[in-house]
Amino acid sequence: MLLVIHQLDGKRSAVSERTFVMVKPDGVGRRLVGECIRRFEQRGLKLVGLKIQILSTAIAEKHYEEHKDKPFFGELVSFITSGPTVQMVWEGPDAVAQVRKMNGATNCAKADVGTIRGDYGLSMQNNLIHASDAVDTAVREIGLYFEDSELITYSQPDDQWLL
Ligand code: CMP
Repeated sequence: MLLVIHQLDGKRSAVSERTFVMVKPDGVGRRLVGECIRRFEQRGLKLVGLKIQILSTAIAEKHYEEHKDKPFFGELVSFITSGPTVQMVWEGPDAVAQVRKMNGATNCAKADVGTIRGDYGLSMQNNLIHASDAVDTAVREIGLYFEDSELITYSQPDDQWLL
């Protein structure tokens, strides 16, 4: 979802995007929700949507439909529906790629130290957090979990420093 191109001094510009992020049952169970939010906030991203829920099998299967033919699909759906998950929409310049970078590689054991998965996990499946892999994926995933009316548009006093 492309929102706006900020022209600053005629040289720099940044495309503001929205991306979908979900803290998985292991991340909630290990009390890492605040840590994930802290990292995205301090990076300068803006939280525009937030909810907590235990996913139904139907929504989990829809969310992960691209993996439906993979051998781990059944186990993945069981895992993601096994406890509370936190859904978030984060907004900011290049938000999709920046959040993916902050989460780290899918396999926590291979994720760089300094990323969420590299600092807090060792598992492939139980990898704490999900984020959209592209702008069009973000549009689809945000639409799965949020109504437009649940996403807030607002400005922050430090917006000018973060472009
Ligand atoms: P996520 O980024 O949410 O996207 C798909 C998820 O499937 C991934 O994180 C992991 O939780 C899980 N996954 C991916 N590959 C494997 C695998 N080889 N074995 C088990 N789970 C996997």
